[in-house]
Amino acid sequence: MTTLSTASRPTSATSTDPLQLIDVDHVRFHVGNAKQAAFFYAHCFGFQIEQVCDLTTGSRDAAHYLLTQGNIRFLLTSGLTYEHPASTEVALYGDGVKDVAFTVFDAEKAFDRAIKNGATVAPGGEPRTYRDDHGTVTVASIRTYGRCVHTFVSRTGEYELTKVKQGGRFMPRFRHIDGSCAAAGACAPQLGAGSSILAINDYNKKNPCGLKYVDHLVGNVEMGKMNHWVAFYENVLEFSMFKHFDDKDISTEYSALMSKVMASGNNLIKMPINEPAEGKKKSQVQEYLDWHCNTPGVQHLALRTDDELHSIAALRARGVDFLTLPDAYYDKVWDRVNSMLKQHGHEAVREDHEAIRKLGILVDSDDEGYLLQLFTKPLQDRPTLFFEIICRRGSQSFGKGNFKALFEALELEQERRGNL
Ligand code: FE2
Repeated sequence: MTTLSTASRPTSATSTDPLQLIDVDHVRFHVGNAKQAAFFYAHCFGFQIEQVCDLTTGSRDAAHYLLTQGNIRFLLTSGLTYEHPASTEVALYGDGVKDVAFTVFDAEKAFDRAIKNGATVAPGGEPRTYRDDHGTVTVASIRTYGRCVHTFVSRTGEYELTKVKQGGRFMPRFRHIDGSCAAAGACAPQLGAGSSILAINDYNKKNPCGLKYVDHLVGNVEMGKMNHWVAFYENVLEFSMFKHFDDKDISTEYSALMSKVMASGNNLIKMPINEPAEGKKKSQVQEYLDWHCNTPGVQHLALRTDDELHSIAALRARGVDFLTLPDAYYDKVWDRVNSMLKQHGHEAVREDHEAIRKLGILVDSDDEGYLLQLFTKPLQDRPTLFFEIICRRGSQSFGKGNFKALFEALELEQERRGNL
């Protein structure tokens, strides 16, 4: 296995395999109010509020905001009508991840292959192409666990992903917030509109948080269902199992869970799948399900940085709430981590140990190197979706050495919420 010391993606090679994933095209959230959510993610996490598709661009049923940072693209969608799926879903589950969309060479071929492999088409997910004079975007969606879908996206012309990454328009009907666009007349500047967005975008350009791309994305499913979804990712998307953890790895005195990590063929994306396990008290996975209408969904997105200390300091300064571990964690962590690194001939943790402690960052190591990670508290009122900020120095694991301390910290939070 190739190890990566910096936040650069493995590159894809050929187009002969219809399910070869080129990139995470975007992660779509269904939210109650996309305009306000855009400000939250921009203010707290440093995203650019780059493009919008709403009533002003002819979208009559939903508003979509495209937020970008590094190679991360979030699409925040709110229904403008009662009937829109985003409206009904937010009523059931609150704000959360709806779609993990993959760029592929041909969305229709990828969809056909997934259906042949046993996938179910998502509601309204049959292949369709959006086009204008500048190019096309073809999308097709299949269901995965609970509320979530995977959309295959293929792009041509000005809408190719390489051009979107350079500031090109995301899809037909999107306009740049600042009124600029590649094609004259395709998006008229809105005088006066969006000036507060321009101000926060300008601040974020000058004060970057350093988030680069989605490293992994964890789903919570019901007890007894983990292996069903492992088989789904193996059979339908042709992923393979990367690692697995049982309840002996992930348990405290009171609560437990089990997890298997699925990875795409080129390791572009890893998708751990968790299920609750029996414990004396309630599993964190069960707490999620209880507040998510007993429906599986995405528990956390891990966002990759090359500089954990800078990113965490910047996010803390912006007011992001992170899980707090007892100070005693740092009494033992350096012996544990550095002795493992020495044993396997790797450099010791190069970041300043005292700065790591002050920022409350967690550290773990394995036979390939080490990682730095930290977890936010839930990003909405319900104890559902949260983010992880992760930096890898060789390690391709998930912080197993931190599980116990982390889950004890989570139990304290569950107790505060009356959910343990
Ligand atoms: Fe994670």
